[in-house]
Amino acid sequence: MELPPRPKLFDFHGVSMTNYFTDNWDNVQNFQARPDDILIATYPKAGTTWVSYILDLLYFGQTTHEHQRPIFEKVPFLELLIPLYPPGVEVLDNLTTSPRLIKTHLPVQLLPKSFWEKNCRIVYVARNAKDNAVSYFHFDRMNQAEPEPGDWNNYLQRFMDGKMVFGSWYDHVTGWWERKQTHSKILYLFYEDMVEDTGRELDRLCSFLGLSPSAEEKERVKGGVQFDNMKKNSMANYSTNPVMDFKISPFMRKGKVGDWKNHFTVAQSEQFDEDYKKKMENTQLRFRTTI
Ligand code: A3P
Repeated sequence: MELPPRPKLFDFHGVSMTNYFTDNWDNVQNFQARPDDILIATYPKAGTTWVSYILDLLYFGQTTHEHQRPIFEKVPFLELLIPLYPPGVEVLDNLTTSPRLIKTHLPVQLLPKSFWEKNCRIVYVARNAKDNAVSYFHFDRMNQAEPEPGDWNNYLQRFMDGKMVFGSWYDHVTGWWERKQTHSKILYLFYEDMVEDTGRELDRLCSFLGLSPSAEEKERVKGGVQFDNMKKNSMANYSTNPVMDFKISPFMRKGKVGDWKNHFTVAQSEQFDEDYKKKMENTQLRFRTTI
């Protein structure tokens, strides 16, 4: 089955979206979470797949035959409704693993209420805006299910305007950050910290989840989720996903902090920083753009 032409953005409850993430809205909003569900929430391109694979290895690393399925099937995407695949909600309803690992890109205010009622654990991953924008740009170039990205300069302006699928990066990261201040079951991770010291962040994750893997087990997970290993691993690198054109750009592209320096001109960077200061002036949330 072929995918229709690239979707268009529209305003959905104040957030830019495409129909692939809104067409199943009633079922998404009525989704019934289970108390042991673990939600992985991110703005797109912040390290969702990395954390998904870490959690998958921590919980299901021993079940070898399960590992013959791609990560995007093992960690279903809650709000996704796209030709070629069954709806995320349906896959999740039929999932018998415990815990269920669930992926979402929804901004905090749009999360189905059942996750709060059941007090589920939530792992949020955030990435600095500049690298996030670059990664999103290359992703939109290679993914036929995303709106046409256009050229980098216009794309960057759209990013600053919040006219991206799943809306404004600034609102997303600060919205989840604010919620974390009052909700103890949210672990807020930074992509930059994970690159800097994956073992340390793995320990934080395990302590949040109440897991105590052996040193050997931790080494195994750490090795499996290294960028180069995930890039070669067809179960983790999205190479089996038909909507992505790896001739344009691979899904596992660079995995670096600071790649923005290869994309932003000096003028773009200055304008971005100035705008960033205004948009982020009311939050304590801080990002590193280099490590
Ligand atoms: P780049 O495009 O900068 O390389 P998501 O899973 O949220 O779509 O995020 C994808 C981004 O995370 C890509 O960034 C990808 O390379 C990076 N990534 C995935 N796995 C990684 C890993 N093990 N180490 C570092 N970066 C990783």
